[in-house]
Amino acid sequence: TGYVAFDSGYANTGSCISNITYLDGERGVLSYRGYDIAELAENCTFVEVAYLLDHGSLPTRDELNEFSQMLNDFAMIHEDMIRFFDSYPPKSPPMAILSSMVNSLCSFYPEMTENPLENIDRMSARLVSKVRTIAAFSYKKSLGHPVVYPRHDLSYCANFLNMMFDSPVRPYEINHKVVAALNKLLILHGDHEQNCSTSTVRMVGSARVNLYASVSAGISALWGPLHGGANQAVMEMLESIHESGGDYRQYVERAKDPKDPFRLAGFGHRVYKTYDPRCRIIKQACDEVLEDLKFSDPLLDLAKELEEVALKDDYFVERNLYPNVDFYSGIIYRAIGIPTSMFTVMFALGRLPGWIAHWKEMWDDPAWRISRPRQVYVGPLSRPFVPIDQR
Ligand code: CMC
Repeated sequence: TGYVAFDSGYANTGSCISNITYLDGERGVLSYRGYDIAELAENCTFVEVAYLLDHGSLPTRDELNEFSQMLNDFAMIHEDMIRFFDSYPPKSPPMAILSSMVNSLCSFYPEMTENPLENIDRMSARLVSKVRTIAAFSYKKSLGHPVVYPRHDLSYCANFLNMMFDSPVRPYEINHKVVAALNKLLILHGDHEQNCSTSTVRMVGSARVNLYASVSAGISALWGPLHGGANQAVMEMLESIHESGGDYRQYVERAKDPKDPFRLAGFGHRVYKTYDPRCRIIKQACDEVLEDLKFSDPLLDLAKELEEVALKDDYFVERNLYPNVDFYSGIIYRAIGIPTSMFTVMFALGRLPGWIAHWKEMWDDPAWRISRPRQVYVGPLSRPFVPIDQR
């Protein structure tokens, strides 16, 4: 059936034309809509960056107020959805809950079906706002505690933290440094061009399925330990090194052994052949946040020592393996009280505006076609049929 180019893992396939995120993996450059991420992370709130990704330009004050108002108006979830949480077995992975609940949003908010682009601003604000509420409620439910409703007087990140940590017996005090740290982390996760989950959102959406179902598929892809699940895997790795006496060199050796499937979590990247610019910012933020919060974490020292040893090792040097966005992010999440099981949910919260921007761009693309890769078939071509009694 003609010539098919085989490209394992799509390492060299451009699947779309996009103007959302620029990534230069040789030089370690990353920008959203032309703005360097370091500048955005330093000066913006996550809500501004979500607006930038989804609308193409930074919001004016009026636009930001309008968007924030929408986030406020859409912050609650249908009360029937709260009952979903009660039906999951205890200790269900939060990513499983998140993916299913996001998929279910299309049943509760079916405005999508007609002409989605007419409603896209409302739908994206709805999604950005509700995923935050779903994430916080799932944590509360995992503790067996009552949920804390969103508040109209709190900013996006402060609201999330309050829904996570406030309780009738111990009121949560908003700490602006914690809010700032969370804003920074979410901004740095905002988009990353055609990574596995974003490509999934585009691929699923290319069949003309609704935004919520497409994003739900993206959440499932993100869950994997080679993708967003790596932030949880890093923390588990650091904890296990720490608990077993701190011999990180042994883990570096294991990661190099071709017979051992173990890899250093939070190291390596398909596109970056130099230091991941997000990791550079997060590493620096770790020191600042821990100092601000007067929180000392032996895992931060361990992570830095492990990085230093790996970066001097020929195996990692020859393969251009550097720490990635997931290597240090968990240290900050831990310092601000987010449990390890929620780390990948935090990644999803940050990546959401990126998924929405790509879904929207894909839907509106004049060159859109359903995604339908080919394969190189290597099985038998023709076999005589054998009736069941003769097999
Ligand atoms: N530890 C040890 N060796 C590694 C690692 C690692 N973390 N990553 C790659 N390698 C080796 C790999 O074994 C291979 O060696 P060889 O050429 O001898 O066979 C070489 O480096 C190239 O690796 P690859 O698997 O062909 O690279 P890839 O582009 O297909 O995979 C990756 C990229 C991120 C999946 C991989 O580096 C990895 O598994 N890293 C650990 C998981 C991780 O941190 N994921 C988060 C990625 S960044 C954020 C995100 O996307 O969510």
